[in-house]
Amino acid sequence: MFRLDERLALCAEFVREGAKLADVGTDHAYLPVWLACSGRISSAVACDVRVKPLENAKANITKYHAGTIVSTALSDGLDSISPDLADDVVFAGMGGELITKIIMRTQWLRDGNKRLILQPMSRADTLRLFLCENGFHIQEEKACISAGKSYSVMLCVYDGMKRTCSDVFQYIGLLENDHSYESKRYIYVINEKLKKKLKGFDQNSDEYKNLYQTVSHLDILSEGVTL
Ligand SMILES: C[S@@+](CC[C@H](N)C(=O)[O-])C[C@H]1O[C@@H](n2cnc3c(N)ncnc32)[C@H](O)[C@@H]1O
Repeated sequence: MFRLDERLALCAEFVREGAKLADVGTDHAYLPVWLACSGRISSAVACDVRVKPLENAKANITKYHAGTIVSTALSDGLDSISPDLADDVVFAGMGGELITKIIMRTQWLRDGNKRLILQPMSRADTLRLFLCENGFHIQEEKACISAGKSYSVMLCVYDGMKRTCSDVFQYIGLLENDHSYESKRYIYVINEKLKKKLKGFDQNSDEYKNLYQTVSHLDILSEGVTL
């Protein structure tokens, strides 16, 4: 067996015992293969839009003898995946805007029995805003540090309730209430980006004033972190 890095290990933590898993944008299929070898899932479909990553996935499935549990599918998002194949759906290592687009067009994800495990590489703010405005509840969120970089992983379930999303929530989600070092560091990294953005605004504009407030709040939450 092999070890998952902290980022994929955190995604794995949110997958339910015995679940049927779909891993969207699987590439090497490390996550489904590791979960299968650990006896944690009943089945998995490792999906990717490109042939080459699926070849990597197939090679690892064979190498780790996971073929009875993990299959592969060439699919743009979940377009070619039947809802019966997945209780838990992981989107890891893709941009937040792409994850948003895929969730938006996949109607069968609007089902309270399905779990979405989301690890955006960028634009997590766009994704959180979409989730809040479209009835997806972020039930849990945790941060991790992997190879020196900070990541957030969200566990979401559809309940149809539309929520308002404050600027702070858009940028750091539930990590505001998590006092781990990993969360503080994630907040610090996000805030450094917001500070750069702030420099581009006219100080008299509402945009500047709103963002300044957010940055000041995030400064307090990430106090003591240095990189
Ligand atoms: C950086 S890899 C992430 C691999 C793995 N999920 C991880 O987190 O380590 C992103 C993968 O997403 C795939 N991808 C990009 N757009 C996609 C789409 N629309 N549908 C499915 N897969 C996609 C790419 O081909 C690539 O293999």
